[in-house]
Amino acid sequence: MSSCVVSLHCLEDREDLVINSPRSGLSLQGRVKIPGDKSISHRALMLGAIAQGETIIQGLLLGEDPRSTAACFRQMGASISELNTQEVRVTGIGLGNLQEPPDVLNAGNSGTTIRLMMGLLASHPDRFFTVTGDSSLRSRPMSRVIKPLQQMGASIWARNGGLAPLAIRGQALKSIHYHSPIASAQVKSCILLAGLNTEGATTVTEPALSRDHSERMFKAFGANLTTDPETLSVTITGGNRLYGQTVIVPGDISSSAFWLVAGAIVPDSEIIVENVGINPTRTGILDALQMMGADITLENPREVAGEPVADIRVRHGKLQSCEIGGDLIPRLIDEIPILAVAAVFAEGTTIIKDAAELRVKESDRLAVMATQLGKMGAKIVEHPDGLEITGGAHLSGAEVESCHDHRITMSLAIAALNATGTTTIHGAEAAAISYPDFVSTLQSLAQ
Ligand code: S3P
Repeated sequence: MSSCVVSLHCLEDREDLVINSPRSGLSLQGRVKIPGDKSISHRALMLGAIAQGETIIQGLLLGEDPRSTAACFRQMGASISELNTQEVRVTGIGLGNLQEPPDVLNAGNSGTTIRLMMGLLASHPDRFFTVTGDSSLRSRPMSRVIKPLQQMGASIWARNGGLAPLAIRGQALKSIHYHSPIASAQVKSCILLAGLNTEGATTVTEPALSRDHSERMFKAFGANLTTDPETLSVTITGGNRLYGQTVIVPGDISSSAFWLVAGAIVPDSEIIVENVGINPTRTGILDALQMMGADITLENPREVAGEPVADIRVRHGKLQSCEIGGDLIPRLIDEIPILAVAAVFAEGTTIIKDAAELRVKESDRLAVMATQLGKMGAKIVEHPDGLEITGGAHLSGAEVESCHDHRITMSLAIAALNATGTTTIHGAEAAAISYPDFVSTLQSLAQ
């Protein structure tokens, strides 16, 4: 077995990740512990902050995004202990009690922080809030949450009609039934959080089911919430207090996806990824990889604090192309960059469609994956709502750009394992948004 040389080079606040894969003989072996789920980590911090009493969070993701959420809620009066994976203690300030912060709230790179928080801010009468983020977040559409909140009576001002920085004057809102044009858990959760603080029943109906972590956690904290799976609707009745809980955060399936694809494409590999959250609204990646013929097995399935969890074993094998679109997209929305890498090493042409949402993520993920994998020799045609990837091309190491996007960084690193020569990923510090230990885990697997 040959090893692969993986090294990080720091240049002021930027990092280059250099991957030099041997011509042959690399195999990835081992067990991997992945970091806590990003979506659940945000929600545990937020619900903990607005509940009565103490919330204990075990397994919190220590990435940059949850740190942004914690910083914002501390500024509004919640007491949150130093972040660590063992145990974070959040002393909530109770429903409707967020304080007006003395300064601008900064959501950093995190769409979940800004959009979910907006629902709470808009529903705190007579308090004034300003919210911003980094340059990526300041270019992402906020009108998808501003519009429904305005229908509820919110006062919100935005740059260019829908971009952060945003200013919010909290109001007593009125309940609505919102038919969301997009399947977005951020939109759904924003409205539910606004509804929590609003008299009457607020309902959100989605065109396809998005991740349901908010619904599960709301119920666990004591909110009055019902779901109707037939109509894809969720209703929250406002005014119910939330009570602090113990939240055990499962490993993030989105972070596990890098190792699932790595194990599937690198010859002779076998990896077990431990403690992965397998909530059915998130397991589209498993369905897609199984469609491609990947050798994946779920072991030791169990339920931890209201979320299903399993260990996942992946072995290398031949992959074939597949078609990904429709209702599957919201179930694997964050995994499309790494699925594109799997498709590069599959036989035949993979079609990814109905995925225009990827253009408004941390980067334009369709354009960036087509361009950066293209530099390595991949054959990818970009479409307005997806990608057409012809598998089987030989990849060569190249200089590529993360475009400040964590999932792009990690996807390119996995592609580099199967490329000949040296790949340098500029801006690799972005991985710390959701996976601070990504490089050290890669180094240990590729030994
Ligand atoms: C998230 C929802 C998804 C996802 C994002 C996290 C969440 O975004 O892409 O990484 O925690 O609610 P959309 O709701 O915009 O689809």
